[in-house]
Amino acid sequence: MRLDKLVAKCGLGSRAQARELIRSGQVLVNGLPVKDGGLTLDPLGATVTVAGKEVNYCEFHYLMLNKPAGVISATRDTLHATVLELLPREYQHLKLFPVGRLDRDAQGLLLLTDDGQLAHSLLAPKKQVPKTYLALIRGCVAREDIEAFARGIVLSDFTTLPARLDILAAAEQSKVEVTICEGKFHQVKRMFHALGKEVLSLKRIAMGPLTLDARLAPGEARELTAGELNLLREWRQ
Ligand code: URA
Repeated sequence: MRLDKLVAKCGLGSRAQARELIRSGQVLVNGLPVKDGGLTLDPLGATVTVAGKEVNYCEFHYLMLNKPAGVISATRDTLHATVLELLPREYQHLKLFPVGRLDRDAQGLLLLTDDGQLAHSLLAPKKQVPKTYLALIRGCVAREDIEAFARGIVLSDFTTLPARLDILAAAEQSKVEVTICEGKFHQVKRMFHALGKEVLSLKRIAMGPLTLDARLAPGEARELTAGELNLLREWRQ
């Protein structure tokens, strides 16, 4: 791999910024300054330091974000802030993208990665990756609703797969936990709407083997642990 690509992949800036760092003599390879960004090296075999700090090369990056309401799950948007803008600076130059979407007003667990294959396999409809949401509903959610979710709900353009609905509190407004194995546009909102109820707030708390880290405040992100990554990779098989 080219040295400038390796430095950029470690989250140290764009490729041009990486070249500048290299030109300025701040990058050492195996202890020696190298000023040629085009130098090719084995990213796992060489010791690279930038401004005195050793950098760890990883081919791909995996972040868990606690998405706040009000930002878009996309890499670009002309009107609203995107989830990428929330990430610390070292992740801004990696080509991360969200795995699936949460509506702008929805919150919670969003996985961001630059590993297209992993993302693709988690999103493949045949994988039926379960996604669990906590929702506040206008209306008193009752046993008939649990049964309707379990049967699958007929929407205007498709019938949903069976879904799990647990009622945490039922009154004029109800608190529920919902698990669906699909990810169609506005799916949870549409399922409740079909039963005459309205989703007032929605927060994703789990996706496949990942659960939202309760220590992440809205807007905060962290890298997946090795254990979480292994669980995700097992899911992909
Ligand atoms: N279902 C919805 O309606 N919105 C989301 O963001 C996710 C699931």
